[in-house]
Amino acid sequence: MFRGCRTARFAKVAVWGGGTMGGGIAQVVASSGYAVSVVEVNADRCNAAQKNISGSLSRVFKKKFETANPKATADEVAAHVKTSTSDVMSKINFSTDGAAVAATSDLIIEAVVENLEVKNQLWKSLDPIAKPTCVFATNTSSLSVAAQAAVTKRSTQFGGLHFFSPVAMMKLVEIVTLDQTDPNVKTQLRDFVTKIGKAPVMCSDTKGFIVNRLLVPYMLEAARLVERGVATVEDVDVAMKLGAGHPMGPFTLCDSVGIDVIKLITDAWHKEEPQNPLFNPVKLIDDKVAAGHVGMKAGEGFYKYPAKK
Ligand code: CAA
Repeated sequence: MFRGCRTARFAKVAVWGGGTMGGGIAQVVASSGYAVSVVEVNADRCNAAQKNISGSLSRVFKKKFETANPKATADEVAAHVKTSTSDVMSKINFSTDGAAVAATSDLIIEAVVENLEVKNQLWKSLDPIAKPTCVFATNTSSLSVAAQAAVTKRSTQFGGLHFFSPVAMMKLVEIVTLDQTDPNVKTQLRDFVTKIGKAPVMCSDTKGFIVNRLLVPYMLEAARLVERGVATVEDVDVAMKLGAGHPMGPFTLCDSVGIDVIKLITDAWHKEEPQNPLFNPVKLIDDKVAAGHVGMKAGEGFYKYPAKK
């Protein structure tokens, strides 16, 4: 039974992990007026998260302001970007003190590495110290939500909030609920997603939910197609953009999501369903990861990306 108030909104939100997804989630949550804590393992990671979020916010504010005010001077744009970015950044607290953050949060979203043991370890450590009313949500893209809920004593207050990359731009959030999820928690999660300006879809706990169940096999098959010598990486991307109307081709998408993330998902699914050919690992993907060429965040994936200033 959910121990929270039916109408309560999440006053304090915490995001565990300030990487590509966690940072993006914190950004959109803070942009909607919520107080957010980002918990990282050390000060360097906190600083990196702060820099990335601030950079992404500046990009969003610059584009919006320039579009709305095409005659604005460079100084006016810069002043607007600076004020708006620091206003949102002031709502984000970066911390390495997970215990203190957990004790005061109403919603904890984890966006740590896509590894069930790591996630379960985190939930086990947070469950006894978080507020009894606190709702736990995993941003997993491929792992069982039920398996994570099972390591806590709050499986009625546990769900999935699956955001998409880049979080600042992608409108969708898949809300994954379990049979035992309290109906009030479902409502709270749906309201929260709407309040942060995203569109919710409800989904049950199944491999890849909706989007990744379709996208991951598609990206893997694109890599197999290149391995078979059917076409180049570049031509496959052009084909899917111009022939299927996708905003980016599968290889640019892999680079954007992180080729390491695609590999983690594929390996986990293949381990669970080795007989399913859709989930067979692909050498081209494995080789990229082995070389450290995991996509945009590494400066190189299927394509090369200029270093961020
Ligand atoms: N942060 C902030 N702003 C961003 C941004 C980011 N990361 N990326 C794009 N923008 C904004 C900026 O305002 C940018 O303008 P500037 O370049 O002038 O700063 C504006 O969007 C336009 O961006 P682009 O010109 O680079 O590109 P675009 O018009 O093609 O739009 C896109 C970018 C929305 C990402 C679009 O390419 C797209 O929809 N791509 C598909 C993404 C997708 O499928 N994501 C799902 C991945 S699967 C997943 O995430 C699941 C998982 O769990 C693995």
